Amino acid sequence: MGALEEIKARVNIVDLIGRYVALKPAGKNYKARCPFHPDDTPSLMVSPEKGLWHCFGCGAGGDAITFLMRIERLSFQEALAKLAQELGIELRQGGEGKARLFQVNLEALRFFQRELRGPSGEKARAYLLSRGIEEKLWEKWGLGYAPPGWDGLLRVLSRFGVQTLLELGLLIMGERGPYDRFRDRLIFPIRDEQGRVVAFAGRAFEGDPKYLNTPNSPLFTKGTVLYGLDLAKEAIRRKGRAVVVEGYTDVITLHAVGVEEAVASMGTSLTEDQARLLSRHTEEVVIAYDRDAAGEASALRGMFILHGAGLRVRVASFPPEEDPDSFARKAGKKAVEEVLAQAQPFHEFFVTALSSRHDLSQPAGKEAVLREAREFWPTIKSAVLRLEIAQKLADLLGLPLEEVQEALRGVTKPVSSAEEKEEPLLTPEDLVVKFLVEGKIPDSVVTEILAEERRFSEVYREVVRRWTELRAEGVPDPGLLVPSLSPTAAARLSRLLLLDLKVADENQALEEALLRFLYLPRLAERMEAVKLALKDAERRGDQEALRHLTLEFQRLCRERFELLRRR
Ligand code: GTP
Ligand code: MN
Repeated sequence: MGALEEIKARVNIVDLIGRYVALKPAGKNYKARCPFHPDDTPSLMVSPEKGLWHCFGCGAGGDAITFLMRIERLSFQEALAKLAQELGIELRQGGEGKARLFQVNLEALRFFQRELRGPSGEKARAYLLSRGIEEKLWEKWGLGYAPPGWDGLLRVLSRFGVQTLLELGLLIMGERGPYDRFRDRLIFPIRDEQGRVVAFAGRAFEGDPKYLNTPNSPLFTKGTVLYGLDLAKEAIRRKGRAVVVEGYTDVITLHAVGVEEAVASMGTSLTEDQARLLSRHTEEVVIAYDRDAAGEASALRGMFILHGAGLRVRVASFPPEEDPDSFARKAGKKAVEEVLAQAQPFHEFFVTALSSRHDLSQPAGKEAVLREAREFWPTIKSAVLRLEIAQKLADLLGLPLEEVQEALRGVTKPVSSAEEKEEPLLTPEDLVVKFLVEGKIPDSVVTEILAEERRFSEVYREVVRRWTELRAEGVPDPGLLVPSLSPTAAARLSRLLLLDLKVADENQALEEALLRFLYLPRLAERMEAVKLALKDAERRGDQEALRHLTLEFQRLCRERFELLRRR
């Protein structure tokens, strides 16, 4: 048994959570006020039997490790170490090697910094000054310069060995031997939360690529670091929010004018690791991307991820043609603060952004909008807000409000209990995942569902994939599934597993869910395809195909009718 499994098996989740909140027995579970949001009704539920917890108020949830991570603001490794120590379980250390690698990166940084100050750094110094990045900022951000030669760094750091320098991505292996990765570039060291140099980014003065990054290395995994967090974390806690921008220069300039809670996602869309990093320091994130970049699918996905990690997300809009760097420099701190204060709640921003990304004159575009919105729906807790968004969408799509609401809600509602004031709604997708993971779906149907994995939203796709892997190894235990998931997926799944469905007939609920999630959408797709083919046949005047397709369409209509009638 691995250390993780042993910890999972031996930790007592009720004792652990009971150290932080007052738990009261409630049937076979325990309840408490949730420590992660203002909670006057006990909405945190803990199941000793399943080893899981979930808050029905704010949506947080997971196992003992994730609870400890959130309440103590620890990383996964730190939480694990703490539990292991308490339980007297030995964890393998990968420590000593890394300390040396950090030392090498630090030496590399010193080399780049010396070069910036030296004779070869003339151009780089002038460039920085021309962009308003003054000398006192060079030190703070560890800025440097990589000279144009092929072996400047190699010669100075050769005592650490070529192998190590290659491993850290400082060198590239060419046909005629190793050479410096960064040549004639401005250097921005990328530091982790504790301020250790894990990687470098090099900006070209002209030409492509504009930025060159260290590849993944033993010290650096793309998407796990936020640029500037080491210097921003204190301000983030003080101000109760983080400002997320795209670029290095945006962070540097924002800090310089006094907006010190800024960090950068470094060009890519935000990942779950980055969201977790942020959620350990704050509950609110203001996204300040370039205007056109903010509405892009990948940026929106990042915002979903932030939202899924329990963060409040707002989106700031700088004037068109400005990025935070240029705007802060021109307009100053007060103007930046105003833009940030006016940031739109993500929900509103989302509806606007959706409309610009799909062709709303086409049925497929409307469906895509609804599908994307539905993915987000369960996380919107306020009934007023739900209505506002549904109304906005209805206007936008030219559909009746009721139809939009139904599409967003999914249709299956669990029969609500008197005790839970506001029973969270389960979408058909939720139900399918719950039944699947609980092993309540017959094999033949499982095969059918897995064949159409693409229908699941991203978070659930992760759950289903992981479940499939565990299933291949034997009977999957839902309790083992949760800790092997990303925090977002773990929270979603633990919520599902902890919900006691108060439905009279589980089989019927399953049928209904499959109908909504799988069978009807599938039929709708087929019908859409046949309609297109019909149009095409009409255009070509192909009578044979027309007759054939008309029959097919009728058959699909009948099938749909039968499906709906059986309920
Ligand atoms: P300046 O143009 O110097 O102001 O830099 P910037 O940070 O504003 O650049 P930009 O807005 O073009 O891009 C935002 C971020 O995306 C950068 O800070 C980088 O993290 C990343 N990025 C941009 N271009 C590249 C590239 O060519 N390669 C890589 N790896 N990342 C890039
Ligand atoms: Mn810029």
